[in-house]
Amino acid sequence: MAKQFRREEVKQHNDNQKSWIVIHNSVFDVTPFLNEHPGGEEVLLEQAGRDGSEAFEDVGHSSDARELMMKYKIGEIVESERKPIKDKTNTWSSSDDSCSTQSSLKGWILPITIGILATLIYRYYFQSH
Ligand code: HEM
Repeated sequence: MAKQFRREEVKQHNDNQKSWIVIHNSVFDVTPFLNEHPGGEEVLLEQAGRDGSEAFEDVGHSSDARELMMKYKIGEIVESERKPIKDKTNTWSSSDDSCSTQSSLKGWILPITIGILATLIYRYYFQSH
């Protein structure tokens, strides 16, 4: 089982000597990564000692970045202090998202078009006979 940390403990590691960041309830020691982070060390230091899940997701990190971060994982947040993880891969299809309004619109357009076409064909057929 991964080592368990309390948020209070992560909080103490908030400078460039010891930078721990919580992302999705996992604890990362990014101290050796500060200099290598393509997004710069400032943004990591800003999140050091804190929960950087939202900041991390806002950037839209690549799957490469997600793989790379596992190198720096040192443990997890204790069960009682975990937060629900917002699943970014699914947010675009969640019900309160504008994209889903679009897709439900698409769901309407097809039957309506078929309905109109059927009416036109029906009318044309009866007019010409
Ligand atoms: C262990 C944790 C992290 C790893 C391994 C990591 C890795 C990376 C990598 C590989 C990139 C290059 C672009 C990509 O592949 O997505 C990147 C870009 C970036 N990261 Fe991180 N990152 C981490 C945490 C964070 C956090 C907590 C923030 C907070 C805001 C952050 C902010 C950024 C920014 C602003 C960029 C630049 C995006 C751009 O120029 O388009 N990263 N990161």
